[in-house]
Amino acid sequence: MSDKQPNVLVARGVFPEVLARLREHFEVEANPDDSVWPPAELSRRLAGKVGVFTTGSERIDAALLDTHPQLRAVCNMAVGYNNIDLDACTARGVLVSNTPDVLTETTADFGFALMMATARRITESEHFLRAGQWTKWSYDMFAGAEVHGSTLAVLGMGRIGQAIARRGALGFGMRVVYHNRSRLDAAIERELGARWVDKAELLRVADHLVIVVPYSAQSHHLIGAAELAQMKPSATLTNIARGGVVDDAALAQALRERRIAAAGLDVFEGEPRVHPDLLSVPNVVLTPHIASASVATRRAMADLAADNLIAALGCGPAAGRPPTALNPQVLAK
Ligand code: DGY
Repeated sequence: MSDKQPNVLVARGVFPEVLARLREHFEVEANPDDSVWPPAELSRRLAGKVGVFTTGSERIDAALLDTHPQLRAVCNMAVGYNNIDLDACTARGVLVSNTPDVLTETTADFGFALMMATARRITESEHFLRAGQWTKWSYDMFAGAEVHGSTLAVLGMGRIGQAIARRGALGFGMRVVYHNRSRLDAAIERELGARWVDKAELLRVADHLVIVVPYSAQSHHLIGAAELAQMKPSATLTNIARGGVVDDAALAQALRERRIAAAGLDVFEGEPRVHPDLLSVPNVVLTPHIASASVATRRAMADLAADNLIAALGCGPAAGRPPTALNPQVLAK
């Protein structure tokens, strides 16, 4: 290892093979314990680093960037990048990248599975069985909602939303409605039989609402008490987007009062904390932010984040051309 190699920080645990590849190009400070460093600790460790490999748990904001003017690249191992102030990075010439595409199908598989588990009450019934409460078959035991032939309502129709819609329309004969700022191409709408509707209609007709919008100030509490009140009492809600898009307290109350039938949640406001009211209602399936967590996909995400870091710092075969940069214009300067 040469002293001339740039210094980078890998802020969370990552596959050893990916670390080894980064070490071919950089002097790497890693996080073998996979601790979530508090902001002050992250800042301390960023001293002298020109690049950082982050996940959604590291907040990169203007104040941190101003403390570390030597920082040139922030490469996030996630498609979502609401943990990073992109404008502040761009203004300071810091390259930012995320990991789109490689996780689309895996995340859609999980979103669909979570929606199905929610509709068909899979975890609720498993807890009942494990608790030794199953003594007889009954005609209405854990009777849930139909999935095939029902109405799938997708809020946010980016790559993952479309992949979920495709599963519903082509695999389960579902009617697909969606709401998104921009409409899909007519050809994709035709393939999916998907119809753009306004948000009010989306909520009103949904049998299964699946939320896949990125988090931003505009999408904060996009679904709260008022929106839940517009849904059918038989409907389910699945959130694989980000905590904060749904008002978790309002959702817990709606679930408790059976104003909607059930929810499936992979993301939470303030995670890894979970609103205590969600933990005490039975009609919710809870998973710890694992929608993209197949081994192959997590490896692909880590590889892509590493490719971005290597290229952003002028190394490797794609030097200067990080494959999934969010603000490539900073490199042209
Ligand atoms: C993503 O890629 O944004 C997932 O939520 C994992 O953080």
